[in-house]
Amino acid sequence: MLVVHSTLVIEPSSAGIAGPALSSRGRELVNSPSMPPYLVEHFSRIDDAWDRDRNPNGYVAMCMAENMLVWDLLEPKMAASRDVPARVIAYDDMTGSESFRRALARFLERNVAGRSFEPEQVMTLAGSGAVLEILFYAIADPGDGVLIPTPSYFGFWPDLETRDELHAIEVHTSSETGFHLTTDLLDAAVDKADRPVAALLFTSPDNPTGRVHPADHLDSIIAWTEERGIHLVLDELFALSVFDGSPFISGASRRPKLGDRIHLVWAFSKDFAVSGLRCGVLVSENQGVLKAVETLSNWAAVSGDTQYMLEQLICDDAWVEGFMQENRRRLGKAHTQVTDALTAAAIPHLPGQAGFFLLCDMRPFMREITWQAEEELWGWLLETANVNLTPGSDCHIGEPGFMRLVFPSGPTPAVVAGVERMGRALASRRVA
Ligand SMILES: Cc1ncc(COP(=O)(O)O)c(C=O)c1O
Repeated sequence: MLVVHSTLVIEPSSAGIAGPALSSRGRELVNSPSMPPYLVEHFSRIDDAWDRDRNPNGYVAMCMAENMLVWDLLEPKMAASRDVPARVIAYDDMTGSESFRRALARFLERNVAGRSFEPEQVMTLAGSGAVLEILFYAIADPGDGVLIPTPSYFGFWPDLETRDELHAIEVHTSSETGFHLTTDLLDAAVDKADRPVAALLFTSPDNPTGRVHPADHLDSIIAWTEERGIHLVLDELFALSVFDGSPFISGASRRPKLGDRIHLVWAFSKDFAVSGLRCGVLVSENQGVLKAVETLSNWAAVSGDTQYMLEQLICDDAWVEGFMQENRRRLGKAHTQVTDALTAAAIPHLPGQAGFFLLCDMRPFMREITWQAEEELWGWLLETANVNLTPGSDCHIGEPGFMRLVFPSGPTPAVVAGVERMGRALASRRVA
């Protein structure tokens, strides 16, 4: 049997690949696919992308958490930051050059966290996935539990479980409450846990609900982690992508000090739409955590060239302001156009306030509300309408029948065409 492992196709029994030349942990990696099927499908179809004139039946990706609406704003700015000084090709502090960390501290204070940090408390690593993996290595022991409210970003599971050997504890929120997280749900998850719980990983703005958590909710979550004496890791990757006019309030702004147990994670991946540059940011006031992360940073450093370019970008306040405003405007416009198309196609959905996501309720198109039926519908949409959504099961959602739609994952006309095609296909399947 052939096994698809990310983009590799391998024979498990063929010499070497999963055989004696690997360590047991190496074999385990071979046997644990690094990509869920929707991503494998995405990379196999991407070269056949939709084009109104040349490829009207082409593939429409709506599954990848990327913002493809702002390249025209980024390209000239990136091209203008190519006066690279010699120092950037030399070894430097692996947690980020001193000047980049200083620039990041200032940028985060003004735009994300609403409070100041010392540059030494800000570290940068190759993407927020690397930040989370290394941060959790430092704050939790193998076997410990980490609470993750769901639906959620799927990558937290590999980030925490692969090398850190932690156990993600799903805290399911319900569609009946609009997927609202309460401290009662957190209490119940801790009471049920069969292991020590080390931390809560909390995302705001949220992927995939697109919700921005208000101050009183943040306060109740922070107070709950303080009472429990556990770490709170704030994932605020979509802080600058709030498009409905709501204020973004950082969890980091709700206490005069972060203290030893609150840590902030941000990245350029989403808010600056440069996921391929791999630049994530950690802010912590815990000296021990900073030291431990520094020790591991050697294996996940951001290239000096990328740091230099991003530093030029965030130090230009006028450009940042203009970019953020225009980015929000375009996200809002695309959100309106795609939700209008979903409404016209009679596909129920939860509108978002921020980020890149719409959560579609596909239950009216399922004969039975099971995980198997959800998987079948996802595959059917891919084959019949050539559109790829993220199945709810990959968001670790607690109930079958939902799929995540990433509305800025391509030009809006392509996404709207995909929704229209999906609506025509689904019309024949409506059962409710
Ligand atoms: C909430 C959230 N956190 C972290 C990540 C990982 O981002 P990065 O590309 O910076 O590793 C993602 C990516 O989709 C995300 O949605």
